Amino acid sequence: QVLPVILCGGSGTRLWPLSRSGFPKQFLVLSGNDAQQSLFQEAIGRIHAVEGKNISLGQTVIVTNEEHRFLALDQLRELKNVSASLLLEPSGRNTAPALTLAALYAAEQGNDPILVVTPADQTVTNPTAFSATLAKAIEIAQKSAIAILGITPKTPETGYGYIKVQGNKSHDQSTGYTVERFVEKPDAQTAKKYLEEGGFFWNGGMFVLKASVWLAALEAYRPDILEATQKSWSTKTIDSSGDTVFIRPEKDLFNAIPSESIDYAVIEKCPSSHFPIQMVELDAGWNDLGAWDAVWQVGKQDSDGNVTSGDTLLTNSKNSLVHASSRLVSVVGIENLIIVETADAVLVADRKNSQDVKNIVGQLEAQK
Ligand code: GDD
Ligand code: MG
Repeated sequence: QVLPVILCGGSGTRLWPLSRSGFPKQFLVLSGNDAQQSLFQEAIGRIHAVEGKNISLGQTVIVTNEEHRFLALDQLRELKNVSASLLLEPSGRNTAPALTLAALYAAEQGNDPILVVTPADQTVTNPTAFSATLAKAIEIAQKSAIAILGITPKTPETGYGYIKVQGNKSHDQSTGYTVERFVEKPDAQTAKKYLEEGGFFWNGGMFVLKASVWLAALEAYRPDILEATQKSWSTKTIDSSGDTVFIRPEKDLFNAIPSESIDYAVIEKCPSSHFPIQMVELDAGWNDLGAWDAVWQVGKQDSDGNVTSGDTLLTNSKNSLVHASSRLVSVVGIENLIIVETADAVLVADRKNSQDVKNIVGQLEAQK
């Protein structure tokens, strides 16, 4: 059996002021899709599309912050026909503990299900190609390897994991590429070197693996995280409403878990005979909506290259993103800007500096 695991407890600070701690980016409608679905809803739909191809999906597992349970629940209900278990974290301890909760949950279901672990902050333009690639990754995970999805890198981005594969074009299509090395978020110089060297892919952030494989790899590389997460899981409380189940690991024990990502805690250390990793190439118009520039890129651009939403008026302006939440926003003669208006905060940024928006959030938090 295959369980979708949606990790959606992040804070998305680079998309401030639309993304807030009370309403983070994964729950926003950002990709310009016709169905007006949030990134979280898109992520669930994307995984569910593999059903049928000899694959049957079990209960969807959603791992998020306690604070966002109603947001997640409302958005789930809109999707219809998705029954879910919500694993609610009292605080964010990053993705390694989040996945461990899902694996412990899965282990209790029996049959050692395959987990399709997906972030909730991305979009793809070709869902059919995505499904085909994911189905292949699930097949690989059945053989107890860890399967990851790799994207041909375009720029020396520093916000991604880099995957070095063995061999070039002649790889075995059925097993994917064998991963030689995984480097999470290299510095700019290293990323540039990897691009020049070739044979590297960006990590798409999805992990397909058996629950037992994750737990064994975590035990090998970060037994402290495993032990601390097990402790808080063993004293969990369970509630349910309709066909949704809420599971809460014990708060104080959970807050004591070391904070670490899946990539740093395990994946970087893995490629080995014990925990082989296979990579399947994903060519589906993948985009991680990390910052406003990416939202502009995937948005519906008009003939001047502008992406607008809400009540906006533009004259002589090009290649900009203008978002109005609570009043009319008018702009004249601008280019390459990001303008995001909300009731209590306005952002004006150069498109090429949109990664730095997180510094504003940092400054705001320091002032609190
Ligand atoms: N439940 C839970 N708890 N979810 C979390 C937490 C947490 O504490 N922290 C982050 N998440 C969720 C985010 O909401 C997001 O959907 C997903 O986990 C990934 O976390 P990010 O924080 O967005 O990771 P990243 O973008 O820096 O890096 C990862 O994704 C890249 C591709 O987008 C890595 O896997 C990189 O290697 C990869 O290239
Ligand atoms: Mg991300």
